[in-house]
Amino acid sequence: MTGGNVGIGFECAKRILGSLDNVHLILGCRNEQRAEQGVKNLLPFVANNNTVEHRPLDLASFKSVRLFADNIISSFPLGIHTLILNAALVVQTRQLTEDNYEMNMQVTHLSQFLLTQLLLPSLRASYKACPDEASCIVFVTSALHMAGIGHGRGPELTIENVDGSVDFDGMAAYRSAKLCQVMCMHGIAASLKDDDAVNVNAVSPGFIPTTDLKRDSGFALRILMNTVLSRIGAASTVEEGGERVFAAMTGEARIKNGAYYTRDGESETSEESRDPVKQKFWWDWTCRSVGLESLSLP
Ligand SMILES: NC(=O)c1ccc[n+]([C@@H]2O[C@H](COP(=O)([O-])OP(=O)(O)OC[C@H]3O[C@@H](n4cnc5c(N)ncnc54)[C@H](OP(=O)(O)O)[C@@H]3O)[C@@H](O)[C@H]2O)c1
Repeated sequence: MTGGNVGIGFECAKRILGSLDNVHLILGCRNEQRAEQGVKNLLPFVANNNTVEHRPLDLASFKSVRLFADNIISSFPLGIHTLILNAALVVQTRQLTEDNYEMNMQVTHLSQFLLTQLLLPSLRASYKACPDEASCIVFVTSALHMAGIGHGRGPELTIENVDGSVDFDGMAAYRSAKLCQVMCMHGIAASLKDDDAVNVNAVSPGFIPTTDLKRDSGFALRILMNTVLSRIGAASTVEEGGERVFAAMTGEARIKNGAYYTRDGESETSEESRDPVKQKFWWDWTCRSVGLESLSLP
């Protein structure tokens, strides 16, 4: 799982470690201290011969993503069974990563797309070793990939402004990254259509104002989210969010491919994200950006 030391990922990790059997869960985390604390906080929930650890992964760096993937592949020659792409952030001021991409876009989408491609052989290998159940990839996305939902700007996914250089808005950039992620989830699903070994799905965990996702927002907004917005009917608790991610990697959901789940069950991603012309455009852009030019959309 990417992230998972706090927030929705942490709640999902609790659920995995407390209810599945013989799982070895790895949290890919950028900050050693926060990761260590996350693992420590998970230990009381570990049951059924399960284990948990963290390994270094900074999604703001393609080099770190490649090192993490190499580390996983060499540690688990029989493969990994599930990949949960949970991490994201909302950066409110424009920042470029060491790879020269806008921060929201690289952390939330580009790096996790790259990680997925690097770990696909490992997911396939684990199915070969244990063909009872397909391996599974879960993208934790957001309903905010849709236009007309929520307040404020975005998504505003255009090639002219994918680097955020024009009139930058952090939430719009986050929403654009989620839209790009959903489009590429559909592309990966299409590439796995005739492949029994691996399925991919996306889940929107709901509006959960109490997590750290807003850590880069102003003080007033953080207080408003924690105290007022967390009580409105549209809000979910972090435990409910974790449960929705868990549901997307277990049971019926696990044998689906290309599905999208929300708090209301299986649903459709936005019309824009299903547009085949846009999907191809953003797939090609994503592949070029992460150095996988030869990967074409099926
Ligand atoms: N909260 C909501 O209302 C909501 C709604 C829809 C979708 N989601 C999605 O749910 C997922 C979890 O979000 P959350 O609300 O639980 O937020 P959160 O509490 O802020 O958790 C985000 C996780 O991502 C990690 N992360 C951030 N930048 C990273 C990087 N560069 N490299 C590696 N890990 C990084 C964080 O690690 P650190 O602890 O080191 O920062 C943390 O573990 C996200 O994909 C988010 O988009 C959330």
